[in-house]
Amino acid sequence: MTGLFITFEGPEGAGKSTNLKIFAEALSEAGCQPLLTREPGGTPVAEQIRGVLLADHDEPVAADAELLLVFAARAQHLQALIRPALEHGRVVISDRFTDATYAYQGGGRGIDPQRIALLEDWVQGALRPDLVVVFDVPVEIGLERARARNALDRFEREPNAFFDAVRSTYLARAAADPARYRIVDASGALEDVRARMQPVIDEVLERWRA
Ligand SMILES: Nc1ncnc2c1ncn2[C@@H]1O[C@H](COP(=O)(O)OP(=O)(O)OP(=O)(O)O)[C@@H](O)[C@H]1O
Ligand SMILES: [Mg+2]
Repeated sequence: MTGLFITFEGPEGAGKSTNLKIFAEALSEAGCQPLLTREPGGTPVAEQIRGVLLADHDEPVAADAELLLVFAARAQHLQALIRPALEHGRVVISDRFTDATYAYQGGGRGIDPQRIALLEDWVQGALRPDLVVVFDVPVEIGLERARARNALDRFEREPNAFFDAVRSTYLARAAADPARYRIVDASGALEDVRARMQPVIDEVLERWRA
C-alpha cells in the first residue's frame, strides 16, 4: 500500500462531513486530489446496505445483525474502492470507518469490542487507517446541529446516554493510540474548527509529499 488512508470520526453533528469538504479543498489547493468516500456506503452495493442500516423498520434490529451489516458494507467498500485507490497511491478520506463501529455498535449498543476486533481482522486484514481525525463536540451541541439539519435517522433518535457512550469510546480510542489519532475540538464557529484542523492538514500534506 503506497497511499494514505485517513478517516474522519466523531458523534452526530460534530461536523465531519462539513469539515471533510474543507479539508479536501485545502489538499486540492496544494495539488493533492484525495478520494472522498463515506461509511456505511461508498459503493452502490454498500450504499444499499447503508439504506437498510439507517431506515426505520417494523421490527427491532438485532445488534449483531447491525454489526454484521456494517462489516458487510465495509468488505465491499474495501474491495471495490479503498484498496484499489490506496494501491494507486491515492490519499483516501472516508467519512467514518471502523472506529465508528467501536463507538456505535460497541459503546452505543454494548457489543463486546473483542467481537468487533475479530471482524476487523477478518474483513480488513492488516489494513488500518494511517490517521484518524476525531471531531469532538459535546453530545447536546452535536445533536442540536443534526436535528436542525434534517429528519432524524434510526441512530439519531437514540437517547443521549447512547451518544455519551459513543463520544467516550472515540476519546478512549484516541487516547490509547496518540500516534494514529488526532482530536479536533469541533465546538464553536466553523472558522475556529478550520483553524484547529490546519495542523492536521499540514501533517497530511507533509506525509503525502514524502
Ligand atoms: N462549527 C459549526 N458550527 C455550527 N454549525 C455547524 C458547525 N459544523 C457543522 N455545522 C452544521 O451542523 C450540521 C451537522 O454538520 P455535519 O453534517 O458536517 O456533521 P456530521 O458530523 O457529518 O454529522 P453526521 O454524523 O450526522 O453525519 C450541518 O448542518 C452543518 O452545517
Ligand atoms: Mg455526516
